[in-house]
Amino acid sequence: MTILVTGGAGFIGSHATVELLESGYDVVVIDNLVNSDIEAIKRVKELTGIDFPFYQYDLLSYKQLQKLFKTYKFEAVMHFAGLKAVGESIEIPINYYHNNITGTINLCRVMDEYGVNKLVFSSSATVYGNPSTVPIYETFPLSVTNPYGRTKLIIEEFLKDLSASNPKWRVVLLRYFNPIGAHESGRIGEDPKGIPNNLMPYITQVAIGKRDKLKVFGNDYNTHDGTGVRDFIHVVDLVKGHINALNFLEKTIGIEIFNLGTGQGYSVLDLINTFSSVTSIDIPYEIVERRPGDIAICYASPDKAKKILKWEAEKSLRDMCKDSWNWQINNPNGYRS
Ligand SMILES: NC(=O)c1ccc[n+]([C@@H]2O[C@H](COP(=O)([O-])OP(=O)(O)OC[C@H]3O[C@@H](n4cnc5c(N)ncnc54)[C@H](O)[C@@H]3O)[C@@H](O)[C@H]2O)c1
Repeated sequence: MTILVTGGAGFIGSHATVELLESGYDVVVIDNLVNSDIEAIKRVKELTGIDFPFYQYDLLSYKQLQKLFKTYKFEAVMHFAGLKAVGESIEIPINYYHNNITGTINLCRVMDEYGVNKLVFSSSATVYGNPSTVPIYETFPLSVTNPYGRTKLIIEEFLKDLSASNPKWRVVLLRYFNPIGAHESGRIGEDPKGIPNNLMPYITQVAIGKRDKLKVFGNDYNTHDGTGVRDFIHVVDLVKGHINALNFLEKTIGIEIFNLGTGQGYSVLDLINTFSSVTSIDIPYEIVERRPGDIAICYASPDKAKKILKWEAEKSLRDMCKDSWNWQINNPNGYRS
């Protein structure tokens, strides 16, 4: 059974590729490497001891996609490829709309042309906007605060229309909460280019001395210590949910939505303190103004995924800190080490 992985050189896609290979699937990976490194693909091959085809293809090239679908008979597609930096999406929305939306439309068009109709899509908790209560259920109203989030919401709507148009489409939308951590080998992990946009890579770069201190955006939220609360989930737990989603697609039709989170909220200071306790390294930080668009508390109800996908996150916040640090210390300059 061959699965096409788009964006498979990226943070989550590379971990998903390992999980797919270890679960016995054949895999073909494409990535244009705009936010990743070919070294990630080499390491996935080395970790699993399995060779698989990789193509430096761009979802914006319909011709490349056609060539791919002519060569392979895919059972399903796991679609991770996309641009994901919120700040950049505000500065250059054209690139975000074009890449994420046109890329997904190209992908679905070629899938349709070649009779491949099973899709697992990487959506985000950002589609819930600023929820009025927590935990967040899949049925909550949707709203977004930035162009990145809007591309996710538009793609979700597009995929709902697509499944409504023809029952041959089987789609799972996975709304990720805050993936952190790394493969326990320390060989693959999150490798941001330039200044990290996400909290954990920033913490690990401070810990290793690449950055002076962490900025904590706001300590006057209505939370137990005033800093924002998020649902951090280990990337390996997250990608395991994708395997369950693939199995689910075998026996379902239409479209289904699942939160992938732990159901547990931790604050920014909780994460810093846990990281320090696990690594015995102090993380200097300063409290600065709130960041526009940030919300106070965001954590999932993972009940639906537990009940229907039979999936549940297993790793603790300490595991997430340990594995993120193990990746950072073994690869001080990411894949360019
Ligand atoms: N990491 C998170 O916190 C998070 C949270 C929610 C949702 N997501 C979504 O999950 C997916 C994977 O995220 P990630 O953290 O692994 O990001 P990532 O940037 O590490 O991986 C995305 C990959 O897609 C590739 N890519 C981008 N545009 C492409 C195109 N047009 N053609 C081919 N390849 C292209 C990039 O080179 C990169 O390797 C993304 O869709 C992201 O929006 C991520």
